[in-house]
Amino acid sequence: MKNIESKHFEIQNKHTELKHNLLQNTLNTAVGIANHFAGQIPSATYTFVDLFAGKGMFDDGTKGSPVIALDVLSNYLKSSLIKNFKQLKIIAIEKDENNQSELEQNIENIMKSDDVANQILFLTTNGDWQHYSSTIKSHLKTSNSGFIFADPFSTQLNMQNLKSLFKNVKYHDVLILINNNALERVLGLSDAKSLNTICEYFDVDKDFVLKLKESNLSNAAAIRHLIKKSLENVDKDYVINIALPRTRNGKIENGDRFYLCLLTGSVGVSDAYLKTYAEIKGNKEIQNNNGQTSLFQGNVEYEYFNLCETIKAITKRNEIISLYELISILYDDFFSWKNANSKEIPTSINLRTSLNILLENKELDVSSNDFIDKRCKLKKKLTTEAFSSKSNLSKVNLVYTGSSFH
Ligand SMILES: C[S@@+](CC[C@H](N)C(=O)[O-])C[C@H]1O[C@@H](n2cnc3c(N)ncnc32)[C@H](O)[C@@H]1O
Repeated sequence: MKNIESKHFEIQNKHTELKHNLLQNTLNTAVGIANHFAGQIPSATYTFVDLFAGKGMFDDGTKGSPVIALDVLSNYLKSSLIKNFKQLKIIAIEKDENNQSELEQNIENIMKSDDVANQILFLTTNGDWQHYSSTIKSHLKTSNSGFIFADPFSTQLNMQNLKSLFKNVKYHDVLILINNNALERVLGLSDAKSLNTICEYFDVDKDFVLKLKESNLSNAAAIRHLIKKSLENVDKDYVINIALPRTRNGKIENGDRFYLCLLTGSVGVSDAYLKTYAEIKGNKEIQNNNGQTSLFQGNVEYEYFNLCETIKAITKRNEIISLYELISILYDDFFSWKNANSKEIPTSINLRTSLNILLENKELDVSSNDFIDKRCKLKKKLTTEAFSSKSNLSKVNLVYTGSSFH
């Protein structure tokens, strides 16, 4: 009988399709935004690094992450009016020899028939990506911007090694797939090897994990603490975890079995990620699967999620809070697959709608007239520009003015 890992590339599972959807849209936006800022830089380079690359194609003909990245970068070359990048690079590392040789073949076939893809430098090698850390770092250092994708099976990740890749590069986004299910299982075991796996995965010491295990937290809540702890000091403005379900018997199962974690310094990239998530959640097939209890059920902290109410609760706790700070708090939470409606996910459009409702109801006020729509004489409304950059977000200060009895 084949194990789950060797069957992975036979048919693309539905949850893998969701993950690929999120990767494709987020990367597409990231390249577009990076292109805009690369205008001033001679010989600007964009690098996509796939640390757990797989085969590139599934046996059913669907595309894997390195081919998705190749598509996104080819489309950039085909459709951008102004192309500021002089070089586009993909680095794809795969530990399994057979997978990597299939990847090489798949890429060769694409390159043969596509003159545009052919302009992208595709570097691939067989081995553990950690053995190539210093090479990857030097590629990243010489790229003005880029994207790192870490998509391991099960618990095969060393967060310290991963963090060292993006420690000294500023404009590189990172997307990590975290297998919550597998981690919960290992956390529940009491042998030394399992403890060590958790410590290495999250880059935390044994005492921290042992204290968590002794506490009354469920394994699921403990994993959320470990994710936060392991990423608390990274130099990225936004760390956004979203929950994904898993596939069982070909259908999406409505538990939150994986987290996909985006680390970025860009409001636009965060927004593209959350927009795709909101779109996925609006999908009918997924709504029909909403039969199962939530991972977060029973945990008041995560009983989510009404955007207006959450904004009120956060602004009420602070005398004055900038829009940037508010967004960072909203992003810092974990978004449950089930409990949030698409309209409540804090994309900039949804946020603006909620904030404008609160301004109209006089439950919230802004302390200056920056980014207030001058055309609306009777109502105070925030303009879309307020959400277009970190510096604009920081200039909008919010004050809670609603009743304290709410
Ligand atoms: C979940 S699959 C990746 C799927 C791929 N990212 C995609 O979206 O199509 C994980 C892959 O990582 C490979 N792998 C596991 N440990 C690795 C390591 N340390 N370095 C590089 N590849 C590794 C496995 O052989 C497997 O093919």
